[in-house]
Amino acid sequence: MKKVVLLLAVTLTMTGTAFAKEDHAHGGHHSDKQMAKLHKMMPNYAKGQTKIAAALEGGDLQAVLKETDYLLSTTADLKKSKPHKKASELEEFRKLAAGFEMDVKETAETARKGDVPGAKASFAEAQKKCTACHAMFRN
Ligand code: HEC
Repeated sequence: MKKVVLLLAVTLTMTGTAFAKEDHAHGGHHSDKQMAKLHKMMPNYAKGQTKIAAALEGGDLQAVLKETDYLLSTTADLKKSKPHKKASELEEFRKLAAGFEMDVKETAETARKGDVPGAKASFAEAQKKCTACHAMFRN
């Protein structure tokens, strides 16, 4: 009799755990979407970075602006997205994303004025945010 009760208790505990897990997975669904979005954006960031660096070297400010426009069209999503790693430190992630956005805006503003050295300096700052964010949040 004791054995049956014990078995029942174990079964109930296991069922409880299964429910808890399912609940957790369900709760995480929204953030998984945000993670997928981030993962999809990043290869385009790499392309944008390469193009901007080349355009700055060649003094092609129209090309710089085309890419900064692209990046700026994504930064609202970047600020809303979630990393896999250290997901608990979302505030720091958002700070880096906002800093990146500011630097890219400044790159665009200086490029628009025809200020190549200024645009180079601003984009160097933006790239520091790529590196800083990856150091902390990239797997
Ligand atoms: C605010 C944070 C943040 C900023 C800013 C950021 N990244 Fe990322 N990046 C991440 C995270 C987190 C990952 C890993 C997660 C993922 O890919 O799903 C990542 C992954 C990547 C990857 C790998 C993609 C892959 O397929 O795994 C590349 C390439 C990349 N980033 C390029 C860049 C470049 C270039 C910049 C700047 C122009 C940049 N990122 C700016 C957070 C950031």
